[in-house]
Amino acid sequence: MDRYLEGQSAIVTGGMRGIGLAIAAHLQQRGARVSVWDYDVRQDAIEKRGFIPDQVIEVDVSQFDGVQKAFSETLRSFGTVDILVNNAGINGPIALSWDYPLEMWDRVIAIDLSSVFYCSKVVIPHMKSRGYGRIINISSIAAKEGVPSIAPYSAAKGGVIALTKAIAKELALDGITVNAVAPAMVETDLMMQMTPEHIASMKAKIPMGRLLQMDEVGALVSWIAGPDCSFTTGFTFDVTGGRATY
Ligand SMILES: NC(=O)c1ccc[n+]([C@@H]2O[C@H](COP(=O)([O-])OP(=O)(O)OC[C@H]3O[C@@H](n4cnc5c(N)ncnc54)[C@H](O)[C@@H]3O)[C@@H](O)[C@H]2O)c1
Repeated sequence: MDRYLEGQSAIVTGGMRGIGLAIAAHLQQRGARVSVWDYDVRQDAIEKRGFIPDQVIEVDVSQFDGVQKAFSETLRSFGTVDILVNNAGINGPIALSWDYPLEMWDRVIAIDLSSVFYCSKVVIPHMKSRGYGRIINISSIAAKEGVPSIAPYSAAKGGVIALTKAIAKELALDGITVNAVAPAMVETDLMMQMTPEHIASMKAKIPMGRLLQMDEVGALVSWIAGPDCSFTTGFTFDVTGGRATY
């Protein structure tokens, strides 16, 4: 792997598992120091992948106080932060909107949308003072399509795209780009619990006829996170195999 991000420092929220772990591993393989912020810091997934973060901070990113403390800790250890990947997220329960529990609406919005605002809010003044930064927010195809029975998730992820555009414009003259990534469904171990018919129906929506691999998100994000992606901001990168061509 090339050393495209040599000497840079990154924060990846929700980086202990899944897509966040793949992103964190790619950033590190390309030369960045990586701080993983997660509220579940059990090591099993990380060990499975053979990736050792440079720093792990146990934090619930939906709590602003905790986010502030985590940032101080990362800054104390790394000195600078060039890259923030807002990846932590939950699906929330599956239920129709009128049956959706109020407290779960609040929780999904807090974790999937407010956390992106909180983490950006604490990191931006530091990036502004250095005149450089890359913020990447993980949204979803659900933001574009609106998926029934996960309305809060769809709304939060749509909010992430709008927040990305707004903050990108605020920072357009500061050397800081802010972009989103909207993946379709990733192939994970969860598939083993699904029927072949269900998996086939998911693949049928994707012109490329297969599901997304986590490493494909890691590769894309690690490129957006570097200096070569210099004239794109406020954009939502698509990773849906041709499902969303808009
Ligand atoms: N998996 C998919 O098919 C898919 C598709 C589109 C978008 N996404 C998005 O990608 C991101 C990662 O998804 P994933 O499938 O890897 O999820 P995952 O559940 O495998 O991992 C999410 C990670 O985030 C952490 N996390 C959750 N809430 C947190 C909080 N409040 N504070 C700190 N850490 C928290 C979890 O502990 C976990 O390590 C999410 O934003 C998700 O919405 C996933």
